[in-house]
Amino acid sequence: MKPPKPLPPTDEAIRATEPIHGLGGAEFRALLDRASDAKARAYCPYSRFRVGAAALVRGAARQPLDGVDGPDGPDGPDGPDGLVVVVGANVENASYPVGTCAERVALGRAVVDGHHRRGFRALAVATDADEPASPCGMCRQFIREFCDLDMPIIMFDKTNHFIVMKLEDLLPLSFGPANLGVPDPGKAKPETPGDA
Ligand code: THU
Repeated sequence: MKPPKPLPPTDEAIRATEPIHGLGGAEFRALLDRASDAKARAYCPYSRFRVGAAALVRGAARQPLDGVDGPDGPDGPDGPDGLVVVVGANVENASYPVGTCAERVALGRAVVDGHHRRGFRALAVATDADEPASPCGMCRQFIREFCDLDMPIIMFDKTNHFIVMKLEDLLPLSFGPANLGVPDPGKAKPETPGDA
């Protein structure tokens, strides 16, 4: 599939790409803001390549534990329409392969908050690159575990120009839980805690 041409983050371009991302302008801009903010919190002293990720999640999952802060903390309260944004950034390590990508930090955080059972709505990725950078292969597979194949992934470059593609276009013919006979954790509600 030919990559789309980056567009500026104007109302017109956001509307024109709505058939792919399905978001309203406010949701789209919230994702851009939160992914950019997260990028500023990247720990990347080795690559100096900052990546921020922001996942928009339907509904508010809460698994409160006494005395433990829930996801309301740094990410703020749920939006009025019950959408929440969970962010991540790349976190590197002196032992290079140990570092983690922004997308996996955001999704792992959301999954631990219980959000995968409610459904991811969109994922945004922001970098300082000249062209929008797409999630690496490992992240695509990680995303695929929890998100619908038609979930949009919005990729922003250093000037916030963006491209948007569906997960299935970034990872065609993908391998997932169903290939192992396991119910899709993005859809099924497990009976037993931890059975995800
Ligand atoms: N990185 C991400 O955070 N996401 C990706 O999808 C691609 C790469 C990070 C990993 C590393 O910290 C830096 O970017 C350079 O590869």
